[in-house]
Amino acid sequence: MKNLLSMDEVSKEEIMLILKRAAEFESGAKPQLEKEYFIANLFFEPSTRTKTSFESAERKIGATVIPFDAGFSSVLKGETLYDTVKTIQQSGIDAVVIRHKQDAYYEELLEGLDVSIINAGDGAGQHPSQSLLDLYTIFKEFGKFEGVNVTIAGDVSHSRVAKSDATALTTLGANVNFVCPPEWQGEYEAHQDWDQLIEKSDVIMLLRVQHEREAAYDGFTVESYRERYGLTEEREKMMKDKAIIMHPAPINRGVEIDSSLVECERSRIFSQMRNGLFIRMAILEHILKGRG
Ligand code: CP
Repeated sequence: MKNLLSMDEVSKEEIMLILKRAAEFESGAKPQLEKEYFIANLFFEPSTRTKTSFESAERKIGATVIPFDAGFSSVLKGETLYDTVKTIQQSGIDAVVIRHKQDAYYEELLEGLDVSIINAGDGAGQHPSQSLLDLYTIFKEFGKFEGVNVTIAGDVSHSRVAKSDATALTTLGANVNFVCPPEWQGEYEAHQDWDQLIEKSDVIMLLRVQHEREAAYDGFTVESYRERYGLTEEREKMMKDKAIIMHPAPINRGVEIDSSLVECERSRIFSQMRNGLFIRMAILEHILKGRG
């Protein structure tokens, strides 16, 4: 694997390899890189989890992190993304982790560059490292994907997490359902009977209402959304005994999930973030080893 761009391009075998290596890292395995690698993190959209998690993973596998601040880069003078990455490559960088608001921004980087590209989120496209950490979280819980019922609830059309997870989970044999307002179902067919889905789900994955992407529809209010589509304390009581709650975060407390449920017993929301560290170590090691 030279790049990690989209879950559409990651095979079942590669997914399982990365999950296995993440588990080894979680159990204390040492990284297996035989030379020094240099990595830069180019975040053109805000991030707390993904950026810090990648930076930490890069240091833990022994790579050198070269600071890059998009807000003080020559992109502000009009430099293109291609020229920015090509410039960084001249400093001896082996891999770049990029988050960008443009869907599939990476397509313009596939010719003429020798660095590895790890997509940390492209617009409303894909978020493959988040997807892999979600898969790791589910696999740790159930030990399988086949037959696991996953309900993804919320702003599906704007969510790169929903698209990445739907692709990967379906490939791995899970049953994926969506619940959201019709305006937000995008390419998927959403169920409207939330309560019925809750009762049969093993995983409830909530998505953030993305206010910054003008996600609101006619008639949207926080109260009406919470009542119709939110995971409320009442709905949590309807979940199966062993069912878990996930959310890629950041969370709008009191909108898509009641604040009291964020750290409840069945919530794996903060475990997902922890799992992200091991998954990103596994992704980086896999890609860098492949570069030789
Ligand atoms: N889940 C996620 O991508 O969070 P950040 O936007 O904080 O990186």
